[in-house]
Amino acid sequence: MPRTSRPIGLSTLALHGGVEPPPASGKGGDIPIVTPIYQSVNFVQEFGTAEGLRYPRYGTGINAEVVQRRLALLEGAEAGLVLGSGMGATACALLALLRPGDHLLASAWIYGGTHQLLTQEFAAVGIDVTLVDPTETRGWRKRLRRETRAIFLESPVNPTCRVVDLRPASLLTQESGLALVVDSTFASPINFRPLEHGADVVIHSTTKFLNGHHDALGGAVLGTASYIEEVRQKMMVWGQAPDPFACWLLERGLKTIDVRVRRHNENAMRIATWAEGRKEIRRVHYPGLASHPDYKVAEAQLEGFGGMLAIELAGGGKAADRMLRRLKVWQHAPSLGGVDSLVSEPRYTSHTHLSPEERSRAGIPDGFLRLSVGIEDVDDLVADLEQAVR
Ligand SMILES: Cc1ncc(COP(=O)(O)O)c(C=O)c1O
Repeated sequence: MPRTSRPIGLSTLALHGGVEPPPASGKGGDIPIVTPIYQSVNFVQEFGTAEGLRYPRYGTGINAEVVQRRLALLEGAEAGLVLGSGMGATACALLALLRPGDHLLASAWIYGGTHQLLTQEFAAVGIDVTLVDPTETRGWRKRLRRETRAIFLESPVNPTCRVVDLRPASLLTQESGLALVVDSTFASPINFRPLEHGADVVIHSTTKFLNGHHDALGGAVLGTASYIEEVRQKMMVWGQAPDPFACWLLERGLKTIDVRVRRHNENAMRIATWAEGRKEIRRVHYPGLASHPDYKVAEAQLEGFGGMLAIELAGGGKAADRMLRRLKVWQHAPSLGGVDSLVSEPRYTSHTHLSPEERSRAGIPDGFLRLSVGIEDVDDLVADLEQAVR
C-alpha cells in the first residue's frame, strides 16, 4: 500500500488494501504481486502459546485475512470477517447481537432467504422479529420494545430495487443504543457505504458485486473490532467459514470492483431509460429514474444507482415466458451482481411459494423480471432486450 497523508482512493484500496508487508527476509524477486492461494488447513503452530493460531474455520486463514482487511478499508470499518455465504454472514451477524427473548426490528423489504431466517429460524430459537414498512413515518419508533436490540434493513432491496432511507432508523438506533445492521449487497461500497450514514454493521453477500464473476460463494460482515470478534465466535462454532480458494477469488474480483461497478451503473441507467419508453413494459423499477418512488433518497444516499433493475411486462407471465425464450445475450439464472448479464423471475425463485395474488400484493406481479445488468457492450444488451420484448 502506498504511504500517503491524504485519503487513499477506493480503487487503490480495492487493489492493494489489506496486504501486509512481506517478511523482512523476503528479497524483491521473491515477492509475488498476487497473493498466493494458501490451500492448507493446517499451519505450523508455535510452542507454548495460542497466539497466531491459524485454522481456516476460525477465520484466520491467510487468504481470508487479506480480504477481511481489504473489505474493512473499503467500507470504512474497524474490522471485517468473511464467511461461506451471504446467508452465513447475516445469520452470524445477527446471532452475535441477539439472545433468546430479544426482539429485532426488521424491514419487511428483504431478500427471501433472509425473510425465512428471521421469521422461521429465529422464531424457533426464541428471537422475536417484527417486520416494519420502512417508508412508514415513525414506523421503527412505534414498534420499539424494551427487548429490542437491533434494527435490520436491506438497501437497495432485492428484487424491487426500492431504496430505504437510513436516517429514521439511524436516528433511533443512535438515540437508544441499538445496533443498525444494513445488508448492502445490491450497492457494494462503490455505490454506498452505510457506516457513513449511521449504520453500525454492514453485511454483504460477496457472491454478488464484490466477487463479481459468478464463481465464488461468500459473505462478509463489517463493524467494530470487538463486535467482529463476537461474529467470528459464532462463525467458528456454526461452521460458516469460507474456503481459501473462495477468499482468493474474492480478492481477485475486488481488484476490479471500481471499474466494474461504474460500468454496471452506466449500463443499467441506459437500459432503464430505454425500458421506460417501451409500450410492452408497464413499469420500470430503477432508482436512477426520476419516476422511481425513492429517487430523491437514492440521489442523496447513493453514489451510484447500481446495476440492478426490474421491469414489469404489460403481458404478464406469458409475455415473460416468451421474452426469456427469445433472449440470446442475457441468460436466465437466479443470482446477480456479476460481469455477465442475467435475468431472473421471482415467481420461479425467491417468491415461488406465494400465490400470484400474494406476489402482486408484494409488488412482484407475474411478468416481473429482475435484470442484473452486466458489463457487456450496452448496445448489445439493449438490442437483445428489444428483439425479445416485441
Ligand atoms: C440482498 C441479499 N442478501 C443476502 C443474500 C444471500 O447471499 P448468498 O446467496 O451468498 O448466501 C442474497 C442472495 O441473493 C441477497 O440478494
